[in-house]
Amino acid sequence: MTHYLLGIDVSTTATKALLIDEHGAVVAVAATEYPFETPHPLWSEQDAALFWNGTMQSIRGVLEKSCVDAKNIVAVGLTGQMHGATLLDAHGEPLRPCILWNDQRTQKQCDEITSRVGKEKVLRLTGNPVLTGFTAPKILWVRENEPEVYRRVAHILLPKDYARYKLTGEFFSDVSDSSGTSLFDVGKRTWSDEMLRALDIPREWMPEVTESPIVSAKISADAARATGLVEGTPVVGGGGDQAAGAVGTGIVRPEIVSATLGTSGVVFAQSDEYRIEPQGRLHAFCHAVPAKWHLMGVMLSAAGSFRWYRDALGAHEKGIAQQTNRDAYDVLTQDAANAPAGCEGLLFLPYLTGERTPYPDPNARGAFIGLTVRHTKAHLTRAVLEGVSFGLRDSLELMRALGITTTQVRASGGGARSPLWRQILADVFDAEIVTVNITEGAAYGTALLAGVGAGIYRDVESACDAVIKTTSSNKPSDAKSVYAKQYPRYRALYPALKNEFQQIAALG
Ligand code: XUL
Repeated sequence: MTHYLLGIDVSTTATKALLIDEHGAVVAVAATEYPFETPHPLWSEQDAALFWNGTMQSIRGVLEKSCVDAKNIVAVGLTGQMHGATLLDAHGEPLRPCILWNDQRTQKQCDEITSRVGKEKVLRLTGNPVLTGFTAPKILWVRENEPEVYRRVAHILLPKDYARYKLTGEFFSDVSDSSGTSLFDVGKRTWSDEMLRALDIPREWMPEVTESPIVSAKISADAARATGLVEGTPVVGGGGDQAAGAVGTGIVRPEIVSATLGTSGVVFAQSDEYRIEPQGRLHAFCHAVPAKWHLMGVMLSAAGSFRWYRDALGAHEKGIAQQTNRDAYDVLTQDAANAPAGCEGLLFLPYLTGERTPYPDPNARGAFIGLTVRHTKAHLTRAVLEGVSFGLRDSLELMRALGITTTQVRASGGGARSPLWRQILADVFDAEIVTVNITEGAAYGTALLAGVGAGIYRDVESACDAVIKTTSSNKPSDAKSVYAKQYPRYRALYPALKNEFQQIAALG
């Protein structure tokens, strides 16, 4: 009898259910999409009911599509968007819409927490500065602005953990997702009594926390009726979307780092010990691998820069793509390959939507610098790919400074489909860039965590070894010496322009 594993990803745009068999083959996927609300500028909210409806519908969908008998599903794993504050009353009912990771209303509360606890202490305890997207400042915002809601709070859950509550009736989280709350002692892998006390948040409001592959609870009779799953099916801790996504591409050992070229760009490294970037420029969170941590740098416009470029300047290539039944990105990158590495001195700064790592600066702007009459469209296109790669290298350099070594970088996301971009990354990073067979991301990673919880795999590392294989490899070429010379020039540009960016932003 084949065993199956179910991964559920409660993301910002949809909840996805993914069923794999015990050999790691994807059997079926079903997703339920939903919007998020922006009731005021800078706000970003979603009704928790969407998380549960999405979970029910997607599980039903995946069971229907696969025709798998639910009794052969041996465990369920959860993952989801991190940092969201889902506030529940004593009956487990949501008190207001969940405030999401990309909500920006809480700068005042972040400043208040930092001054109340002290910058150094916050960094030492939680691994990160308090950021507007994180959970704790949102709780303080509700206390200040919606006291009648705050008075009734009895439980605080992250989005995937609300889905778990509805699936099992239990209040649980896992160490990786809890790391993004500013209330978690990331070094000790437990809630920080010191942070909770300093912010007057009762410990009883927080869920129990487990390591990611450990069984936390079981599917309840009610949830079995609602979803078609079998009562008593074990549910493991799971992980935040970044940690679970890293498991899904095998970032579970030292020296293997990932670079994700999605709209935003993420560089993710596992760490055997709890290390903090001294200025808090990298996120330091617990990993979904027990007793391991991870470091993460996030650039805001990675493949997003290339999308902007295609839409703003690629009308001609879009036309060619349509006529020849190709993708406009492929037309652009084919042309970009005609420009030499380093673009004859042309540099692109990818700060089109501000930046997060290494410059937490909403006012940073994008730029082409070094233009001469020699430059063609091919140079401009290539410069965008190179500039984004330099931006990702900034995160990698912060990790290298903390003693993280890199022999292989696993590239994923839309941008990694381009062989040219992968070669540029190999040359800019001076590391081998590979792609892997698994492209299902966090839902796949959390299904593997479920497999560990169910005893199908011995541990997370062996789960990854069993199913994740490399599919392409780009090694550094001679061009790396060009980039070695150019990178310091790229590095010098933001500090040189920082003040001008502030002035330009003030112009509107
Ligand atoms: C992680 C982060 C995002 C969200 C939404 O720090 O902000 O990955 O979890 O996907």
